[in-house]
Amino acid sequence: MKCKKCGGVAVINMRHHRLALCADHYLDWFVNYTQRTIEKFRMFGPGDRLLVAVSGGKDSLALWDVLARLGYQADGLYIGLGIGGDDGYSAASQAKAQAFAEAHGLTLHVVDIKETYGESIPELARRTGRGRGKPCSVCGLVKRHVMNRVTLEGGYAALATGHNLDDEAAVLLQNTLRWQAGYLARQAPVLEATQPGLARKVKPLCRFYERETAAYALVRGIDYIYDECPHAVGATTIFYKELLNRLERRSPGAKHGFYLEFLRAKKKGQLLLPAETGEGLHPCERCGQPT
Ligand code: AMP
Ligand code: FES
Ligand code: ZN
Repeated sequence: MKCKKCGGVAVINMRHHRLALCADHYLDWFVNYTQRTIEKFRMFGPGDRLLVAVSGGKDSLALWDVLARLGYQADGLYIGLGIGGDDGYSAASQAKAQAFAEAHGLTLHVVDIKETYGESIPELARRTGRGRGKPCSVCGLVKRHVMNRVTLEGGYAALATGHNLDDEAAVLLQNTLRWQAGYLARQAPVLEATQPGLARKVKPLCRFYERETAAYALVRGIDYIYDECPHAVGATTIFYKELLNRLERRSPGAKHGFYLEFLRAKKKGQLLLPAETGEGLHPCERCGQPT
């Protein structure tokens, strides 16, 4: 396979774009396509200060790298969940995020959940008994809370997460199978700050397949954590991702079409969904954030 731009050896073939590229041209294309996504969905402008939620994985580190290369002023936020002990999952992913920040001269805020709130995520999940001892739902809640708080306190224009097309398509499949109209209305590359206390959220990598962000991270030489959170094993979203991968193998581009045509139909008003007003959110009794 040859690079469409220069005829050199291609490192990736993207059938849904009919585009094969060599390493150098792929890096350029990835950065430009991210900028086009930022503009297409009016995510933010050149002068905006951004906060990137960095997990130490390939997607969020690739995102931080691209935003910095595009010249955006983007700080990082790592949330220490306390999963896996001293040299386990959380400690290892924090080390990757910190090493990246140091190597690139970027600012990383670290919020350690146990230091801040007195209990790690697994401890909190055990004590509250939520999710039958599986920490994922508590974890999601706490992460959203911390991301929202640090974005607002730091006066950032938006919080950027590393969600890719595979993530978004899996959530879309889940919401569609249950016809969750409210969730479908809220599923978008940009979540506006519809009320005071709510930060604006953006997903600049939402048009890339997971294999494309992985390829970017590899070709760029980004050192990221390969492991998934140990609690993610058996998670419903992973099952949906596998289903979508089977579909994609039989019909290349299926995932891309599923998600992006959904966004297009929604934008054109072809889907009758409740208006995304943030209605139904109420201030938390403890911290006042909309929930
Ligand atoms: P996940 O929910 O694990 O698929 O992660 C989705 C996105 O949330 C990632 O791409 C990151 O932007 C962000 N994220 C996940 N875990 C963390 C963390 N521990 N600290 C900061 N951001 C995170
Ligand atoms: Fe939160 Fe796994 S339980 S990342
Ligand atoms: Zn080339």
